[in-house]
Amino acid sequence: MKTFSVKLVPLGKEIPVLEGTPLLDVLNEYGVEFPCGGKGSCGRCKIKLLDGIIHTDQAHLDKLAELNLDASWRLACLSKCDSDISVEVGQFENIIQADESSFDFTPGKGLGIAFDLGTTTLVGQLIDMSSGKILAVETAMNPQRKFGSDLISRIETALTRGSEEMTRMIRDQIEAMLGKMMMSYGKSLDKMVIVGNTVMHHFFCGFDIRPLSFYPFDSKQLGMVELSSGELGWDNLNCKEIRFYPAIGSFVGSDILAGILATGMHLKESYSLLIDLGTNGEIVLGNRNGLFCASTAAGPAFEGSNISQGMQARSGAISSISKVQEEWRCSVIGNTKSSGICGSGLIDAIHMILEKGLIGEFGEILSGDTDLVLDANVSLTQRDIQEFQLAKAALDTGVLILLRKMGIEHKDLEHVYIAGGFGNYINLDHMNAIGMLDLPVDRMHKLGNSALMGAKMFLFEHPRLADTILESTQHISLEAEKDFQDMFVDQLIFKR
Ligand code: FES
Repeated sequence: MKTFSVKLVPLGKEIPVLEGTPLLDVLNEYGVEFPCGGKGSCGRCKIKLLDGIIHTDQAHLDKLAELNLDASWRLACLSKCDSDISVEVGQFENIIQADESSFDFTPGKGLGIAFDLGTTTLVGQLIDMSSGKILAVETAMNPQRKFGSDLISRIETALTRGSEEMTRMIRDQIEAMLGKMMMSYGKSLDKMVIVGNTVMHHFFCGFDIRPLSFYPFDSKQLGMVELSSGELGWDNLNCKEIRFYPAIGSFVGSDILAGILATGMHLKESYSLLIDLGTNGEIVLGNRNGLFCASTAAGPAFEGSNISQGMQARSGAISSISKVQEEWRCSVIGNTKSSGICGSGLIDAIHMILEKGLIGEFGEILSGDTDLVLDANVSLTQRDIQEFQLAKAALDTGVLILLRKMGIEHKDLEHVYIAGGFGNYINLDHMNAIGMLDLPVDRMHKLGNSALMGAKMFLFEHPRLADTILESTQHISLEAEKDFQDMFVDQLIFKR
């Protein structure tokens, strides 16, 4: 198979990819968002073809015409790489958007940076505060991954070796990313907003991690943290205001606070549900009269942890399985040989084995085999299926409890927002068909990186807005509900 290069303008990146690789796979890793999840309806993933060839079929041409885009444009979500290409990413030209619509902001002065400090990935965007224009984007893997992909392993490492190394590493990585983004803009920044989960917050700020390591996981340092370039050891940068935004609870970080802002759910009369299937599986439900939020144990399985061949949504992961003319086909990210399965692929795999009648309602493999083959390289074990059931039950029980707290039912939800990179690939119909999140698919919106979107929006707001959202948000401990266990067991069963 041939290799081609994709040049991204104005990022100045050149990425080698295999022939036929969907551009969604390539650009997603560079912070480009796909709000409608690749349906071709929102136009946010538009790219200008500067050089090379991207073939279009009639459906693609029809979508371009509907969006009033001329022949120089393509929708990245409908495009594959079949030659060396150079593309300008339309999204970086746009005024900042949340969901599928632009939001009002009061223009500011100078330069701002929004940062999403994730467990796996770090993403920053440099913003012209007068226009909202995105001037540069940097993404990098979190260097702490060498101490484990999950937060528990990193906390354990910090408890035995001290947190200093973790703190240094993350600050150094961000300093390097800032340096690249600022290369053409000097050394002076006006504002920087950082969001992330509570563990990243503690590591970055240099706080004692121990309170997050044992019950009741009660840290007293969850609030807004103001820092200076000097304290952070960033000698080559002069930033007037650096803020790590506050967490909602011990396991619900400022990434979720930013997600609330990005959806605008705290301002709406109608009820919304925000689900972020990242590390912890956080959920937020409510409207302008108040929000409930909780953290479920649903995250790790969808991030590939605890699944024997599980992996994150990157090259080599089976990301979807669908039926094409009576034949089930696996799609692999990067159009390469499969080496594992990510969260969206896992949902599709469960959907397929239920459709084929290979497992019963309790998840048991009916043939008595210990695993089920998905393709030449990847199988699902009985244990994997159980892990999926536990994650599904945790999420569904969390949603049921928050609905009950709010005194509403599934049908009362006007918007369901699915956040996180995982959401870009998820097949909502398959998810619904296996009884996971028994919610109306037509009200679901894929949000992409809502934490980064919210961080960008915070840049234009007074920091007090964070307090306003926090005051209307109540954190619920799901396990403390008296019938949690019974509800959880009910949700383990697959509905068909
Ligand atoms: S049109 Fe491509 S993600 Fe919406």
